[in-house]
Amino acid sequence: TDSYETILVERKGRVALLTLNRPKALNALNLQVMREVVAATEALDRDPDVGCIVLTGSAKAFAAGADIKEMSPQNYLDMYLSDWFTAWDRLGQVRTPTLAAVSGYALGGGCELAMLCDILLASDTAVFGQPEIKLGVIPGIGGSQRLTRAVGKAKAMELCLTGRTMDAEEAERAGLVSRVVPADDLLGEALTVAETVAGMSLPVAMMAKESVNRSFETTLTEGVRFERRLFHAVFATADQKEGMSAFTEKRAPKFTHR
Ligand code: CAA
Repeated sequence: TDSYETILVERKGRVALLTLNRPKALNALNLQVMREVVAATEALDRDPDVGCIVLTGSAKAFAAGADIKEMSPQNYLDMYLSDWFTAWDRLGQVRTPTLAAVSGYALGGGCELAMLCDILLASDTAVFGQPEIKLGVIPGIGGSQRLTRAVGKAKAMELCLTGRTMDAEEAERAGLVSRVVPADDLLGEALTVAETVAGMSLPVAMMAKESVNRSFETTLTEGVRFERRLFHAVFATADQKEGMSAFTEKRAPKFTHR
């Protein structure tokens, strides 16, 4: 975790904090950022002592999009053969819960990166949008799909077709973000939420995440069936015994993540 150039990785107990660090480019997401974020996140995902991964940027920009200067000279075959952006999908596939703490610009790939995370917290300065159309392109890291699922067709279509942005308040109203907090509190609040998640049983949190994510992939009947199977499965964990015993004994649970 020491050899990254475009991100910073810190550990705070069971929480890992990953900070995008290309300030001069407003954290534009070039291929190096993609490789480093994905590698760091997958390494943290393999670490049983990490219970939540927080992804953040700077006060001014979570990320102002994919790197336009890097993309500009590419042709179709370059994009196709290198399967441009596909590695980002792996961020959505990690099992450990992830949280995006968004301040400032979350545009294009920045908005898509935030939407690849499980929990999305915004500061009151956050600005979201998919302005690719203004560059003569379309979203490429899942924006047209995840934004539509998050906020519905009406807003997604308007944002993708006009490139207009929405502020944090509109994003919360539309259901894109779970909460808006004052800019100065964003990181503190994000870490508090992350510590809460990381304090839960990790395998059970993974199953909760897996079950919610399943709703985007399947029918209601199949999704409920999937949830029921996992619900039954948690009764194989020591943490279910501990959590329910602790409630009965009127004490705080001590989860062992087993
Ligand atoms: N790619 C590359 N460089 C970027 C960038 C991006 N997406 N966004 C900002 N930068 C660079 C600027 O070029 C500038 O660099 P120089 O100092 O070398 O000129 C530096 O970051 C600071 O940016 P600005 O001077 O533009 O800062 P500002 O405060 O005036 O404006 C902004 C901020 C409105 C966010 C503006 O930078 C902007 O519009 N950025 C592009 C937003 C965008 O179109 N994002 C979508 C990209 S395409 C995409 O993401 C495809 C996809 O789906 C994956």
